[in-house]
Formats: sequence, C-alpha cells, structure tokens
Amino acid sequence: MAEVIIEVKNAVKTYGEGEALTYALRKVSMEVYEHEFLVILGGSGSGKSTLLNMIGGMDRLNEGEIFVNGQDITKFNNSQLTLYRRNDVGFVYQFFNLLNEVTVLQNVMLAPGSRDKKKAMKLLRSVQLNGKENKFPRQLSGGQQQRVAIARALNKPSNILLCDEPTGALDDASGKAVLKLLEELHGQGKTIVLVTHTKEIAQMADRIITMKNARVVSTVVNEHKVSAEEVEW
Ligand SMILES: Nc1ncnc2c1ncn2[C@@H]1O[C@H](COP(=O)(O)OP(=O)(O)O)[C@@H](O)[C@H]1O
Ligand SMILES: [Mg+2]
Repeated sequence: MAEVIIEVKNAVKTYGEGEALTYALRKVSMEVYEHEFLVILGGSGSGKSTLLNMIGGMDRLNEGEIFVNGQDITKFNNSQLTLYRRNDVGFVYQFFNLLNEVTVLQNVMLAPGSRDKKKAMKLLRSVQLNGKENKFPRQLSGGQQQRVAIARALNKPSNILLCDEPTGALDDASGKAVLKLLEELHGQGKTIVLVTHTKEIAQMADRIITMKNARVVSTVVNEHKVSAEEVEW
C-alpha cells in the first residue's frame, strides 16, 4: 500500500466577515497517496482551489492541520512556509502565472535554488519546448505557456505537482497535450493532484474526490481509468 504523503485534517477556511463571511472549506479531511493521480472534482465555488491553495501553502487555514511528508505545514512560520512553497510543492495554475517580462528560460529558473541552467534546459526539452528558451511568454501559445509553467513547477526537489484547472484556459488540443504531459509525469513517479470541474478529465485519475459546498462529499477509487489520449470533453 502506498504511503500517505499529504493529509488534510478538519480543514476550515473562511473568507470575509460579517455579512460577507463565506465558508470555502467546512471541516474538510482528505489524503493523497505517494505517486497517485488524484482528481479533486466539483462545481464552481465548491472549494477546490481553496483546498489546493492550502495544501500549496499559499494561505492559512482558520482551523485544522495539513501534514505533508509528515510535517504539519499549518505550524510553519512565514519563512518556513516560503521555503515549503519553493521546494516541497510544484504548482500549476489555470492562467499559467508566468512573468511576462523575462524569457521562458528565466521563468523556469526564477526561484532561488532553481538556477541550474542545464537542468532548466533539460526540463524545457522534456516539455517539448526546445528552441523556445529565449522567447518571452507572449510569443508562445497558451498550451506552450502552460508547459513552461509545468517545467517551472518541476524545477524543484519536490515530487508533488498541484494543478488547478490546468487545461481551463486552453483549447481542446492544447489541453490534451497538457494532460498527456501530466500522465507522463505521473508515470515517472510524480504525485499529481489535479483540480477540475470537468467529469471527463476526472476519469484519468486513480482516485476521485468530489467536493460540493465546501465539503468533500465522496471519495472513490476510479474503476474506469482512461488515458489522456482517450479523454474527450
Ligand atoms: N479570496 C477570496 N475572497 C473571498 N471569497 C473567496 C476567495 N477565494 C474563494 N472565495 C470563496 O470561497 C468559495 C470557494 O471558492 P474556490 O475555492 O475558489 O472554489 P472552486 O475552486 O471550487 O471554484 C466560493 O464561495 C468563493 O467565492
Ligand atoms: Mg477554482
């Protein structure tokens, strides 16, 4: 049995206060196993991004704990959390979040500890972007920009990739290329947590956690796993 590498326990997260108080997570508990492909599925506003952001150390919970590699990240101080985000989790966003003022190669080498040029070039080759390293993000298609973002997320010691609607801003063909890349990375041993509102994409997962109204409403082993090639949405 695979090891649990991420464990979320009774996570509560609210935004705003008074009239504007919103519960984004209401006592959410879940876990992620090492090397699995996990999908978090749910409609808009169900709390998926909030859950992923909390696992990624982007913000803090009101209540609850999140263990990653055995350490409770909710106990981290701000500098520990910065190091955690830099080293321990790769994050891929719907809208890429690249720096537009610097080249593709520089985007992949931005973080301290990721400045090995040979490694960055190798990662760019692995996402089929050889020859693009000196381009700027705006000179690339959306699908290519997302692959830069994936190369950046891979340029750290972590084996965990957190992906928030990574195909959400892409046309079907580019989206499929991104899913194939994630499938390949999973095959190489990465742990993938993918957030989506698209049921068809969820069929790529080993397990599917469904969220609704800030809660996890089901967790199932996916008996009908399909390849990225077969996914249609
Ligand atoms: N920064 C924020 N400020 C205020 N409300 C937020 C913020 N982020 C998310 N929310 C609210 O929290 C709930 C869950 O949002 P989110 O996690 O983004 O859901 P999903 O990713 O499933 O669409 C929604 O009601 C949303 O409006
Ligand atoms: Mg979201």
